[in-house]
Amino acid sequence: MNLIQIDPKLDKQFTRLKQGWVNCHNCKLHKCRTQVVFGRGQLPADVLFLGEAPGESEDLLGYAFVGKAGKILDKIIYAAFYNEPEYSYFITNTVGCRPTYKGKNETPAEKHIDACKERVVDTILLAQPRLVVCLGKIALSAWKKHLYKYQDKEITIPYIHLRHPAYLLRLGHTQEGTREFDASVNKLNKAIEGLA
Ligand code: URA
Repeated sequence: MNLIQIDPKLDKQFTRLKQGWVNCHNCKLHKCRTQVVFGRGQLPADVLFLGEAPGESEDLLGYAFVGKAGKILDKIIYAAFYNEPEYSYFITNTVGCRPTYKGKNETPAEKHIDACKERVVDTILLAQPRLVVCLGKIALSAWKKHLYKYQDKEITIPYIHLRHPAYLLRLGHTQEGTREFDASVNKLNKAIEGLA
């Protein structure tokens, strides 16, 4: 399975990015990963989604958001892109390796985020998105703190913040779950329409 579609013009750059990170030892997360997860979707991309970190499915399959939370994200994207289905998107994470302890997912620490920030920035520069969508608080805080500046230059891309899909997954089919899901779709849809 190949869940990354790249414009041939970006092939070399993406290969270079992967080669630079595939054996990364910048932080201790390399010890518990199966592989570095670069993302999934299209490059370049109109919209770049920034999640937190790979979970078990992502670590095993090598693509971002391919587990249960990913199904919710796919539904949000499908509903929000309804009028603009031709818009492309790429999904990556604040850290490329799964933070795990005794088989359970962990929240990435600042040192992990810091160690991975150049990979995210390089992915953003490759994707050239017109909108960044931070999924959850970790992605939002990493974006504001570490990622929107590159070599001291601001990356001036508009961004929005949505609830993390794993949070929506936990809410399930409750009233609050439906409300939060709809709120995410509406916020993303508005931001997308603003790109036209
Ligand atoms: N949660 C994330 O933040 N990223 C993934 O890739 C999967 C679950």
